[in-house]
Amino acid sequence: MTSPIRWGILGTGQIARQFATALRDAPGAVLSAVGSRSNDAAHAFAKEFNAPRHYGDYRSLAADRQVDVIYIATPHTLHAENARLCLQAGKPVLCEKPFTVNLRQARDVIALARQKNLFLMEAMWSRFLPAIQEAKRLLEQGEIGTPRQLQADFGFATDVGPEHRLRSKRLGGGALLDLGVYPLSLAAYFLGAISEVQAQAALGDTGVDEQTAFSLRHHGGGLSSCICSINAQSPMTLTISGSAGHIRLHAPFFMSQALTVTRTDGTTRTVQHPYLGNGYTHEAIEVGRCLRQGLTESPLMPLDETLALMACLDTMRAQCGVNYPADDEIGA
Ligand SMILES: NC(=O)c1ccc[n+]([C@@H]2O[C@H](COP(=O)([O-])OP(=O)(O)OC[C@H]3O[C@@H](n4cnc5c(N)ncnc54)[C@H](OP(=O)(O)O)[C@@H]3O)[C@@H](O)[C@H]2O)c1
Repeated sequence: MTSPIRWGILGTGQIARQFATALRDAPGAVLSAVGSRSNDAAHAFAKEFNAPRHYGDYRSLAADRQVDVIYIATPHTLHAENARLCLQAGKPVLCEKPFTVNLRQARDVIALARQKNLFLMEAMWSRFLPAIQEAKRLLEQGEIGTPRQLQADFGFATDVGPEHRLRSKRLGGGALLDLGVYPLSLAAYFLGAISEVQAQAALGDTGVDEQTAFSLRHHGGGLSSCICSINAQSPMTLTISGSAGHIRLHAPFFMSQALTVTRTDGTTRTVQHPYLGNGYTHEAIEVGRCLRQGLTESPLMPLDETLALMACLDTMRAQCGVNYPADDEIGA
């Protein structure tokens, strides 16, 4: 029997809790340790999720020899620094989305992983869900003919204040980096590489985008139309349309558990594809599979695609006038 993949979690916020919960349902995975800026937070987290070890700093987690891979669950602006810390310590990394704040940071982190021959993946968890995988399979087998367009929206209305990471410029706030990455990433997954982007945004008082609408041209000839928001509650739908019909992922699309296929021959069918645990379980399973097979990246979320998507985000932010302090830093 293969020994379990021993996970370390870096950060103890909202998504760290979700991921720790997900690991309970991932076969062959265990939570081995947690690292936090605060020893109290690390201790409480370890107690709640039965992690054998906890640390009041990230460096000690990265150095833990009983950890096989580290999941980074800090605000966007810290992803690059935290990923570098773990990679420098020889640890494979699963890094939350958006992968980094900008393309320069992404290139820097990916170059380090490649230089050290270590596994690295953007935690775009939706890609690994059974319903999304099924939609991809149906597209590839021509179920809706030639796929030509995708429409998606991801918006929720929040009243968090200017200091919250969703609105804070210092923490990489805004709808595009937090929510827009989902339709962007899935559009590329379903319709292929992106050749052109056009975005417009409504900026809030803190200078970050409260909502952004963007259109994408894909190399294969398809077009996508997407919108994201932190001040409008949208239906969270995603539809892919082709020459012979359309596939609708049931809402919320980023954690879909079913899809409906409607064809021009008059047939409609709905298929259920529930996920394991709370859904995040599937990305943990994929990382485990890659590590066991000695892969340094996942074929489902390759690093060159992460780079291409980061380039799209940079272009869209420039078009909308959204910049972050990290954009002014000199490259490493
Ligand atoms: N995949 C998804 O569905 C999903 C959902 C939500 C968020 N996310 C992503 O996950 C990341 C974290 O989001 P979250 O909602 O979990 O945020 P959060 O609740 O604010 O937690 C972030 C954690 O990062 C650590 N941290 C380190 N430096 C920090 C700083 N200067 N300010 C605030 N926290 C700091 C803190 O942990 P310690 O104090 O323990 O060090 C904090 O608890 C974001 O990049 C976000 O895009 C992904």
